Amino acid sequence: MLQHFDPNKDYGTPASLSEKLVTLEIDGVEVTVPEGTSVMRAAAMYDINIPKLCATDNLEAFGSCRICAVQIEGRRGTPASCTTPVDAGMKVTTQNDKLAKLRRNIMELYISDHPLDCLTCPANGDCELQNMAGAVGLREVRYGFEGNNHLHAEKDQSNPYFTFDASKCIVCSRCVRACSEVQGTFALTIDGRGFDSKVAAGQNEQFLDSECVSCGACVQACPTATLMENSVIDMGTPEHSVTTTCAYCGVGCSFKAEMKGDQLVRMVPAKDGDANHGHSCVKGRFAFGYATHKDRIKAPMIRDSIDQPWKEVSWEEAIGFAAKRLKDIQAQYGRESIGGITSSRCTNEETYLVQKLIRAAFGNNNTDTCARVCHSPTGYGLKQTLGESAGTQTFDSVMFSDCILVIGANPTDAHPVFGSLMRRRLREGASLIVTDPREIDLLSTPHLGDATHLPLRPGTNVAMVNALAHVVVTEGYEDKEFIASRCDTKAYSKWREFIIDERHAPEAVEAITGVSAEKVRAAARKFATAKNASIYYGLGVTEHSQGSTTVMGIANLALATGNIGREGVGVNPLRGQNNVQGSCDMGSFPHELPGYQHVADSVARARFEKAWGVELDDEPGLRIPNMFDAALAGEFRAMYVQGEDIAQSDPNTQHVEAALSALDCLIVQDIFLNETAKYAHVLLPGSTFLEKNGTFTNAERRINRVRKVMAPVAGKEDWEVTVDLANALGYPMSYSHPSEIMDEIASLTPSFANVSYERLEEHGSLQWPCNDAFPMGSPIMHTESFPIGDEGKAKFAVTEFVPTTERANSRFPLLLTTGRILSQYNVGAQTRRTDNQAWHDEDILELHPHDAEERGIKTGDWLGITSRAGHTVLRARVAERMQPGVVYTTFHHPGSGANVITTNNSDWATNCPEYKVTAVQVEKVSQPSQWQKNFQDNHERQYEFLRGSASSEAKAIK
Ligand code: SF4
Ligand code: SF4
Ligand code: SF4
Ligand code: FES
Repeated sequence: MLQHFDPNKDYGTPASLSEKLVTLEIDGVEVTVPEGTSVMRAAAMYDINIPKLCATDNLEAFGSCRICAVQIEGRRGTPASCTTPVDAGMKVTTQNDKLAKLRRNIMELYISDHPLDCLTCPANGDCELQNMAGAVGLREVRYGFEGNNHLHAEKDQSNPYFTFDASKCIVCSRCVRACSEVQGTFALTIDGRGFDSKVAAGQNEQFLDSECVSCGACVQACPTATLMENSVIDMGTPEHSVTTTCAYCGVGCSFKAEMKGDQLVRMVPAKDGDANHGHSCVKGRFAFGYATHKDRIKAPMIRDSIDQPWKEVSWEEAIGFAAKRLKDIQAQYGRESIGGITSSRCTNEETYLVQKLIRAAFGNNNTDTCARVCHSPTGYGLKQTLGESAGTQTFDSVMFSDCILVIGANPTDAHPVFGSLMRRRLREGASLIVTDPREIDLLSTPHLGDATHLPLRPGTNVAMVNALAHVVVTEGYEDKEFIASRCDTKAYSKWREFIIDERHAPEAVEAITGVSAEKVRAAARKFATAKNASIYYGLGVTEHSQGSTTVMGIANLALATGNIGREGVGVNPLRGQNNVQGSCDMGSFPHELPGYQHVADSVARARFEKAWGVELDDEPGLRIPNMFDAALAGEFRAMYVQGEDIAQSDPNTQHVEAALSALDCLIVQDIFLNETAKYAHVLLPGSTFLEKNGTFTNAERRINRVRKVMAPVAGKEDWEVTVDLANALGYPMSYSHPSEIMDEIASLTPSFANVSYERLEEHGSLQWPCNDAFPMGSPIMHTESFPIGDEGKAKFAVTEFVPTTERANSRFPLLLTTGRILSQYNVGAQTRRTDNQAWHDEDILELHPHDAEERGIKTGDWLGITSRAGHTVLRARVAERMQPGVVYTTFHHPGSGANVITTNNSDWATNCPEYKVTAVQVEKVSQPSQWQKNFQDNHERQYEFLRGSASSEAKAIK
């Protein structure tokens, strides 16, 4: 009788995690469930469905509607089944005349204050109130509709994605609880009492003006049409759905793409999504409109020079044109004169094919990816210390953490669904340490307990991490047993000698970091004495001249305190783009074949040579910055860029623009005419995640299926275009489905050996390594040993602090650091073409009131920002959360020119740019910078060139 767990079913209350089982009787059926389960859930698990309204299984039971009343032998009254836990031997009755009458009475009261417009209601057929009226057999409403009611309450349509129609509200408070329990924002309350009680956003504000971050959890939780997606109001209820993976950030949330015919109506977070468990953020939930935006490139285009209009051509002509140019350039300038860039937004299969094209068809290793400019130090630093270039935990592991150290990351904005999970753990009592120049939002988590902010100066991470480790070692907090059994003791002794030196003491580095020694010591003790302490870090660690050193310092700290290899601990890079983990895994770097196998490793290379039927270059190829330098030197002449906007995202924009302008052939494959495409000679239409099959790998190494929801606008998925280009170059590629590409990946990549589409269908998702040693994948890494050296022991690394050469001085007295905002994504190409613009339609420069006052600056003033690299203009926001001497901006809008001012400085080991430290001066100005004026002129000219081509819609190639 016990049903299988059905992820689509609402069991009414959350599952109990107890291992102890309890047996009871419900309607004469013997049921056995974990202790702590509610009677409602226990019944639902055995397919006995008790009516409910205020209960839903992702929220704690509240017990307000009483429609779920049951009778329990030996107990008085009719207790609510959602708030009553099971007891051994309990005898429960869920259906009899008395209960039926009680439920009908309750429903009558609800319905008497509810508009009876079911036939025209957007929730018709998808409304729990309607269903429950049917379930309890409601046939009449004796109270009439004439009394006091809320039928004329006003609608709040301020949010661009959903409407709040108060006339339909039954005040069940599911939305309020979703906002606090699931999202952790606490934007909603029930205002007033009794008949006057109503849902209120913020301080009785419009949703858009409140703290609401538009995650959609309340809309999801609402059992009526009160909170409803505008797309459903406009298009009607969806008819079918396809489960796929969000293409925005590295959390990798699973969604049901709900469709009407071939039109996407809404994206609903999948309850059984292993990374998100039914939660979402504003990007994945609502910002999908870019896929059908009028700016989509719908047909291939070519031109001889970037000063010419585009000519729309067939796929065959465009591919032939590109292949001929590549071959001619190689014939004239040599094999190394061309290269390519893989995309961290495309699927694993597509990324794998691009690097294969470069290595096998171009015949060199000139392949790189956006990880160069974000997490390449993670790859290097973790490989050196832990032996594997990836985070060690699942996201869920944070729920077992007692102390959470966040370094240079802003999870509530950049990894929002994980940010909500972390907030939940913080509300439960875990302590928080934030090492960041800014007071990030995590520090204002409602109901946050013990929290420490170490507001260090930009560029001093290594000094800070070393100081924390110094305290751990010199105050005797090391986990000696862990170190002796799991670490290379020689490397440890060397590191220990280094770290105990007084130059790393918090007192000695206070002048460097700007953070008081006392605070640093207290934070180190807190971290070291927690039962489970975890470290989460982001681009605020990696995008520095010493990014790799900090990553190794983080690994040292985790190893020294024994915080690796179990739940609740670990080293967790929060990777930015949806598939940046995957693009690194798939061999996008110039020195590594898929699975981080070095190109100089003759055994690995031989396997690829055999499978690919070509001889491979054993020398690492060019990194992105080397490609730019070589282009300017005339040695590098052509590039294939798939799904990456290097002209906007890479530092020192003028340098990048000059390098791209110097190329003889730039082939860009993208969904829009992005900044890079303005320098292209061949523009190939890209396909969005909705238009393709494949897989993404998220920040916890989880491989998730991407499933095709609609046909590609130009007829081809991205991988098909790469296949065509390879064939046109004379290197045969033939696949009929991305599953075949994954089979090839699995055969050549030891950590993917047991990954296949069949297994992904069976298990939902798999975390690599997934091979014979770990057939079900590896949620937590390094539980027994580390994949490093002969003995599998982790290696401490000496991490000397070397200050960046980018220093503030009297000419450039402020330090600029950059970051992201929740509503926009990376270069903004997608989110800027959605209603997310309502939250952030321009990049702003934030500065401390003291710095503002000194310069006579007020919020809203235009500011000229000048660095050693360039000059741009942004509007000002005076913000207390900044520290004096530090200014901050985002880089989501190309015309802002945030990267015009960032410099060419980069990480010593990986060339990851030092985006997070640029010395600048700011002053009030009255007009845009010269670069911004040129940008605007070029933008208009390039769009004119695009419009000048025949209507792409009319000529779309099928
Ligand atoms: S959309 Fe999210 S943040 Fe906004 S009110 Fe609803 S649950 Fe809260
Ligand atoms: S808006 Fe929906 S979820 Fe919130 S109280 Fe009203 S009916 Fe319940
Ligand atoms: S958290 Fe990331 S993966 Fe999840 S919905 Fe938001 S953008 Fe998408
Ligand atoms: S569902 Fe149990 S009281 Fe509302």
